[in-house]
Amino acid sequence: MKFREANKKDLNGIIQILIESYISLEGSKELAKKEYKTELNYGHHFFIAVEKKEVIGLIAWFYHGLKKHCLIEIDRFAVKSEYRRKGVGRKLFQKLIENLNKYFSKYGGVRKVFLVTRKKNKRALIFYKKLGFKKVGELKNHFYKKVDYAILEIYPKLIFE
Ligand SMILES: CC(C)(COP(=O)(O)OP(=O)(O)OC[C@H]1O[C@@H](n2cnc3c(N)ncnc32)[C@H](O)[C@@H]1OP(=O)(O)O)[C@@H](O)C(=O)NCCC(=O)NCCS
Repeated sequence: MKFREANKKDLNGIIQILIESYISLEGSKELAKKEYKTELNYGHHFFIAVEKKEVIGLIAWFYHGLKKHCLIEIDRFAVKSEYRRKGVGRKLFQKLIENLNKYFSKYGGVRKVFLVTRKKNKRALIFYKKLGFKKVGELKNHFYKKVDYAILEIYPKLIFE
């Protein structure tokens, strides 16, 4: 398995994972493509896992505030369905942290990573807990009415070093 920042050639592989992993994209290729391009324009980075030239996992991230704050938000995290429960997500996250430590090396590496995930997404909550994330709050009626989100955070230095 290889890990790297995505490039233009990865478009189709990324779209495939997005449409099968996110309810809001409703299995629509066109919608997923539009969303992906919008997120790239916002400055989101897509870090991917590749197996035999196939994109099998992705994490979309961006930093908040100034670069020196070394504060990352993860916006998307998904593994292609047939590759789930094989350790791809965990490995991808570890590699992302290594990469972020290089990206923020001038400031001592990545300091904190946070994300929000639907409270009903029990699989994701278990997964993030296994990675070492802690729940620090909740957001009610967040993206949609009656859909609540958990706020999770991790200080990677405490987990990986
Ligand atoms: C969440 C997700 C990224 C996990 O990726 P993955 O590659 O399957 O995760 P891993 O195999 O690295 O799992 C690491 C650990 O997390 C836990 N875990 C992962 N998926 C789990 C599940 N479905 N049920 C229970 N525990 C789970 C396990 O403890 C696992 O270790 P184990 O298999 O040795 O017991 C994947 O399920 C996914 O793409 N889901 C759809 C998109 C999504 O909901 N993303 C998160 C919200 S943005």
